[in-house]
Amino acid sequence: MTEIFVAPVAPGEEELEQTLRPRRLDEFVGQERVKEQLAIALDATRARGEALDHVLLVGPPGLGKTSLAYIVREELGVGIRSVAGPALERKGDMAAILTAMEERDVLFIDEIHRLNRAIEEILYPALEDFRLDIIVGQGPAARTLTLDLPPFTLIGATTRTGLLTTPLRDRFGMTFRLEYYDPPELAQIVRRSAGIMGVEIADEAAVEISGRSRGTPRIANRILRRVRDVAEVRHAGAITNDVAREALHLMEIDEAGLERTDRELLRAVVERFSGGPVGLSTLAVALGEEPDTIEDVYEPYLLQLGFLQRTPRGRIVTKLGRAHIGATAEPEAKLF
Ligand SMILES: Nc1ncnc2c1ncn2[C@@H]1O[C@H](COP(=O)(O)OP(=O)(O)OP(=O)(O)O)[C@@H](O)[C@H]1O
Ligand SMILES: [Mg+2]
Repeated sequence: MTEIFVAPVAPGEEELEQTLRPRRLDEFVGQERVKEQLAIALDATRARGEALDHVLLVGPPGLGKTSLAYIVREELGVGIRSVAGPALERKGDMAAILTAMEERDVLFIDEIHRLNRAIEEILYPALEDFRLDIIVGQGPAARTLTLDLPPFTLIGATTRTGLLTTPLRDRFGMTFRLEYYDPPELAQIVRRSAGIMGVEIADEAAVEISGRSRGTPRIANRILRRVRDVAEVRHAGAITNDVAREALHLMEIDEAGLERTDRELLRAVVERFSGGPVGLSTLAVALGEEPDTIEDVYEPYLLQLGFLQRTPRGRIVTKLGRAHIGATAEPEAKLF
């Protein structure tokens, strides 16, 4: 399964992510509106004994899409089948998965925007009428066989809705957009994770980490893990505020939560393209990154901070962004 991670994932990291993953809706911190709507839909579905409507989860990496998909299956007490969109290559793969579904089961398709078109087309009648149309034979002898499928729930995850085709998007009964978490929520997640990891953490240290996690639980947990290493190797094991700050300094994570690559991106736009506008593909080449990674992983938070702007002509680093990397501001007129 391919997942985009912000940094190369050390062995064991994925396992840790599993153990830290909230299992029930009430363990899932934040995203109150999403939880409220989902809780109502789950209650209604349980009461009626039907399959839950198809759900689309949208949001930047590490905000809890996969966690929510597994929470739904846990809350409904049903089975789950989990696949990555790009891993499905042939129509037969999709047909095999669909015919193996049991009533009310969840089918989780991660990176659903990367499904190929032929497979997507098999999904349309399956989602709408729980029907699978299979074409047997070729040429004039070809016939369509229709199989009935048990009612099931598709949960799709994607980083951006704009990447989905309209017919697919229209077949989801519910779309939930996950927002970046605020620092108090992240602090709560950090304290919860520290509890699971069995490490003592000062409140101040949890707050310090939460402020530098870019609104993202996965990053908060990843920082916590590194901080714990520093606490164990260099200190007595407990995470005090000083230990947290020392570790963050070692990781080169600044006050805004930016890592070295984020600052390099800002610096590249300012120094090599005079602050922009610069097109995404040009920037990607300059940084030696995939355009998708820049758009999905780095840009959203820089945009949110107001350090970067997307314009029709390309990316621009704002005055705030320049100030952050210590570059002198260009005349105002240059920004637009
Ligand atoms: N609301 C939350 N409360 C507590 N922990 C959370 C929450 N959301 C995410 N996490 C933690 O962050 C980790 C990453 O979350 P998850 O894998 O669900 O993100 P994702 O949105 O599926 O990311 P990707 O787009 O990269 O697949 C989880 O293992 C979990 O520990
Ligand atoms: Mg995921």
